[in-house]
Amino acid sequence: MLVEIPDILTADEVAHAQQALVAADWVDGRVTAGHQSTRVKQNQQLPEDSPAARELGELIVRALQQNPLFVAAALPLRVFPPLFNRYEGGGSFGNHVDNAIRQVSGTPLRLRTDLSATLFLTDPADYDGGDLLIDDTYGVHSVKLPAGHLVLYPSTSLHRVTPVTRGARVSSFFWIQSLVRQDAHRTLLFDLDTAIQRLNQDVPDHPCAVQLTGVYHNLLRQWAEL
Ligand code: NI
Repeated sequence: MLVEIPDILTADEVAHAQQALVAADWVDGRVTAGHQSTRVKQNQQLPEDSPAARELGELIVRALQQNPLFVAAALPLRVFPPLFNRYEGGGSFGNHVDNAIRQVSGTPLRLRTDLSATLFLTDPADYDGGDLLIDDTYGVHSVKLPAGHLVLYPSTSLHRVTPVTRGARVSSFFWIQSLVRQDAHRTLLFDLDTAIQRLNQDVPDHPCAVQLTGVYHNLLRQWAEL
């Protein structure tokens, strides 16, 4: 399931992030690439311990925790501290699948990457190219969102970023270990959750809402891993 989540950050937060990122020290993006993706990655990244990455990363994680759509779609157990990248001057990232396990640098913490997320931080009018192309069973999805919006997709997906031919594309990217490992299970829970919320809105106090909410929690109980 691919989900676009609007307005993770407010316009003020986006402006703050853009300002901090312009002034930050960028390094070659291959520092965090796995063996296979080193050969196809041409971008820049902020070091994981850079103060700007830490500060903005905490801002993003707080915003995610308060976003009901993100929580419902991801059912997050752990969120990797957000990283930041920049593509310009023809920079791109060829086809790859993200590494399955990620170590949080400087800690013993590891997480399984169930979901990959990209939070766009540049206005799409300010650059050409830089589309995130994600393959799934139904074909290729091209994603290029307004600044402050996020796309969430299964980390099992083959994906790439097309060359940026004008301007610079800055975004944050990170991974989520979900309470629910299987994308198919998460999708069912998300659909059920969405339908229950709509039912509660359209027909308040309908007796079926209690029963359906029970089904939701009993499925989550079957599938959740803590
Ligand atoms: Ni990737």
